[in-house]
Amino acid sequence: MALVSAAEMLKKARAGKYAVGAFNTNNLEWTKAILQGAQESNSPVIIQTSMGAAKYMGGYQVCYDLVKDLIDSMGITVPVALHLDHGEYKDSLECIEVGYTSVMFDGSHLPFDENLEKAKDVVAKAHAKDVSVECEVGSIGGEEDGIIGSGELADPKECKTIADTGIDFLAAGIGNIHGSYPENWSGLSFETLAAIADITDGIPLVLHGGSGIPLEQVQKAISLGVSKINVNTECQEVFAAATRKYIEEGKDLEGKGFDPRKLLAPGTTAVTELVKQRIEWFGSKGKA
Ligand code: 13P
Repeated sequence: MALVSAAEMLKKARAGKYAVGAFNTNNLEWTKAILQGAQESNSPVIIQTSMGAAKYMGGYQVCYDLVKDLIDSMGITVPVALHLDHGEYKDSLECIEVGYTSVMFDGSHLPFDENLEKAKDVVAKAHAKDVSVECEVGSIGGEEDGIIGSGELADPKECKTIADTGIDFLAAGIGNIHGSYPENWSGLSFETLAAIADITDGIPLVLHGGSGIPLEQVQKAISLGVSKINVNTECQEVFAAATRKYIEEGKDLEGKGFDPRKLLAPGTTAVTELVKQRIEWFGSKGKA
């Protein structure tokens, strides 16, 4: 199946009260693991690259070709969108040109008026090519690939103004952060989420920092309008743990256990398993 925009799959998710997982990829193994997990779950999926991960992989064209070609060679039949995560303005435009089917223009660190103007421009260019657009209001806390957000609660009025530019889905700070949550984290602000959902006319909402949020909070967020949940750190953790176990058990020293195809296999399987588990949590299993 060809790559699809994320607009339709997230509209369906919002109406059906489930969320689609958006998993960050870093390399070949990760990309295969995510596709495999979605296919085995018969679920739509969003594969996303941060700007840093795309650079690491050799650029946006490489990421696009990799995802597109793996969909063909693995016989993937579930809907897959390729999304730019936290893109600068110029990266958003480049991804639209290269063939990404979805982009996040993250202008949350800009003055609000500039965020708004650039969002409008990205929407016009993206929609001309059937590419979906995510924007953000109120920075998400924590650090991801050098993008640092101090974490805040988004202003519902600003959310409404950005939503009215015609974007397809909206990320808004509701107390969520990238990376691990600190012990004293006060949890998601459902009051803020409800106020944003109330004022933004049914636009699918995006929950960043999906790693480490307890299931009950995830489900409550979905019931209030969250339709896309980003997961990165947890995939990294399970990959690293499985690789560590393999090496600590000395398996890389047995026969040709050092062959990267063997060395990276346990981590890859662990990512697939986590993707399948999160798809169950988010309720998108069987929704392809
Ligand atoms: P985590 O790394 O906390 O899962 O967050 C991922 C994310 O929000 C990507 O934009």
